[in-house]
Amino acid sequence: MTEPDKTGILLTAFGTSVPGADSVYYNIQQQVREVYPDIPIYWAYTSQVIREKLKNQGKPVHSPVQALSLMAENGLEHVAMQSLLIIPGLEHHDLIQISRAIQGLPKGIKKIVLGNPLLSHSRDLQRFAAAMMDNISPSVHEDEAIILMGHGSVHPANVYYSALQYHFWLCHPNIFVGAVEGTPSLEEILPLLQKNELTRARLYPLMVVAGEHAINDMAGRQTDSWITVLSNMGIDAKAVMKGLGSFENINEIWLDHLREIMGRL
Ligand code: CO
Repeated sequence: MTEPDKTGILLTAFGTSVPGADSVYYNIQQQVREVYPDIPIYWAYTSQVIREKLKNQGKPVHSPVQALSLMAENGLEHVAMQSLLIIPGLEHHDLIQISRAIQGLPKGIKKIVLGNPLLSHSRDLQRFAAAMMDNISPSVHEDEAIILMGHGSVHPANVYYSALQYHFWLCHPNIFVGAVEGTPSLEEILPLLQKNELTRARLYPLMVVAGEHAINDMAGRQTDSWITVLSNMGIDAKAVMKGLGSFENINEIWLDHLREIMGRL
């Protein structure tokens, strides 16, 4: 990093349109600000649907391409683009393409380095599982399941959820990882709960913010929400409405990925 005054950080999240849910993004920003107090921080949301909703509410947020153009306009030549996504799925691969396409344009940004999402290397999964075990408070009861609801993906990176399940099982047999739009599905988890005679469950979103999916698919009153399905099975289920970005030790994993790319700018 030769020219700190021409360096910027771009934090790139999926985005949320749920009022207040974005406060976890500010937690992440605060943690980044503490490490890099003098480097400007920009934001982008990858979800076009969410950006459209926010625009209609008069709260526009940039797309990654828009944010990078603005950064170039503001004279920045080196950009650390940190992916605040969970797995290297479709959205992350879009970021890879965007960073390559925008880098090196005339009078533009000379170098863009993209930081890995939360779960990339095996050590991230190990570290994430250990950190979440610390965050699950009070600790797990013998008859209790802890179920983390991820988004899931049609991208091959969906296997990260199963890989994460493996790392959690090394920590505790009552932790389960599922995906609302992928595998493992809740249907695959249910027989395991019965087999282990677990009678209560705590649900956590395996997502950066406790947004639409956490509110509806996880904790909603609808018949197919995870909390309803579990309750109908006689399992006393509760939802913990805390996105991953509200846990400092989880944000530290993203921060380490950012530190790594700052070293390569
Ligand atoms: Co979704």
